[in-house]
Amino acid sequence: MIRVLMVCLGNICRSPLAEGILKSKVDETRVFVDSAGTGGWHVGELPDARSIQIARQNHIDISDQRCRKFKVHDFDDFDLIYVMDASNLSDVLSLAKTEMHRNKVKMILNDDMEGYAMEVPDPYYGGDRGFENVFALLDEACEHIAKSLSHEA
Ligand code: 4NP
Repeated sequence: MIRVLMVCLGNICRSPLAEGILKSKVDETRVFVDSAGTGGWHVGELPDARSIQIARQNHIDISDQRCRKFKVHDFDDFDLIYVMDASNLSDVLSLAKTEMHRNKVKMILNDDMEGYAMEVPDPYYGGDRGFENVFALLDEACEHIAKSLSHEA
């Protein structure tokens, strides 16, 4: 079983979408996918209604997810940790204790997307178009990740 964790700031907008999208592209008996936030403001809550909606429009149900906070033990529990932006990256890396932990952490848009040293923008304070953009970016990124995972096992 390969274990993949998606991380953003709030775990209500971007990483729940990344979790749902990647799950839709992999064999869930072989790949375990979860998500978490570096901030704890929304722990226990459902994903943002706008994330649930854009996922639903793309035939993905993320309404069973509940927000949780990233914890140091996640470095041991997961093989790959994908963050959405540079701020998530520094927050997560600041908790890493070993080189092995640090090596598990990647920016999600950098994975196999040459020339795309990009961030998934935080859509929380924007309108619905921000969520459409986030969905499109994560859909492409997860396509790459799913392909690389299928080669791996
Ligand atoms: P996310 O978006 O990191 O994509 O889940 C955010 C959601 C909530 C907050 C920040 C970002 N917040 O500050 O509550």
